Amino acid sequence: MARLLEVRGLTKKYYAGTTESRAVNNINLEVDEEEFVIIMGASGSGKTSLLHLIAGIDDFDEGRIHYKNTDYGNMGEKAKTIFRRTNLGIVFQQHCLIPDLTVYENIMLPMMLDRRKRAGRKEKAVMKETILKLCERFGLEEHIGKYPSQLSGGQQQRAAVLRAIVNTPPLLLCDEPTGNLNSAQTDIVMRLLSILNKNGQTIILVTHDIKVAVRGKRVVFIKDGSIGGELIFSGMYMKEDSQKREEELMEFLQKRNW
Ligand SMILES: Nc1ncnc2c1ncn2[C@@H]1O[C@H](COP(=O)(O)OP(=O)(O)OP(=O)(O)O)[C@@H](O)[C@H]1O
Ligand SMILES: [Mg+2]
Repeated sequence: MARLLEVRGLTKKYYAGTTESRAVNNINLEVDEEEFVIIMGASGSGKTSLLHLIAGIDDFDEGRIHYKNTDYGNMGEKAKTIFRRTNLGIVFQQHCLIPDLTVYENIMLPMMLDRRKRAGRKEKAVMKETILKLCERFGLEEHIGKYPSQLSGGQQQRAAVLRAIVNTPPLLLCDEPTGNLNSAQTDIVMRLLSILNKNGQTIILVTHDIKVAVRGKRVVFIKDGSIGGELIFSGMYMKEDSQKREEELMEFLQKRNW
């Protein structure tokens, strides 16, 4: 598979007074098209910081980020925004739904912003149907006209996942997309992400949940802002293997004092 993302020497510093700390410290990461990469690591290890840098919503201090032949890391803000809109879907750890828009409007937003799809009545009807179907699948059909403040954390999280995938971006970045969900809801979200991945979308997903992590193809472990190891699951990507994968992952994590 062709290389989709290449991150080299990526470093993000924070300062408290004159004391420097590195949330992301010299990370190298390569992701090919159609990969499903899981990022794990202790709380505060730098997972969200890394994802935000890859998403281009935070600036880094050193290193570079390339999407295929595009030097994304060094693009101007305006070009970056346009690139992000068409190439990336982002599910934030904090859901970041827009409070003044309904669930439906929030999910519709990426489609409305994407000029390629700013279309006539017929296309709008198709968009609407797509959204309604997805909402039904995610148990959001009754909440479609509500505002985020009227939803539970889990409902907001599912709406945020739908907003990120509705435009079928080539790369999906998900920061604990199932963090507020029960196991049945987690299963629905993960099954959908697996289908998207099988249909060709590349996914990078941060999680603390072993059952979620085994759905990926490899696990990158972050420790103190750096890569502390990588696990590529042996065996095929099949449901029957999940027990074996969990054992494999537990062993990998225990070795890293997770
Ligand atoms: N805006 C900021 N200013 C200063 N320090 C920050 C800022 N954002 C994050 N940090 C620090 O950077 C480190 C990494 O934070 P990050 O949010 O990336 O962790 P994480 O791995 O996502 O944790 P969690 O699993 O709890 O979500 C932490 O020590 C955090 O305190
Ligand atoms: Mg985080």
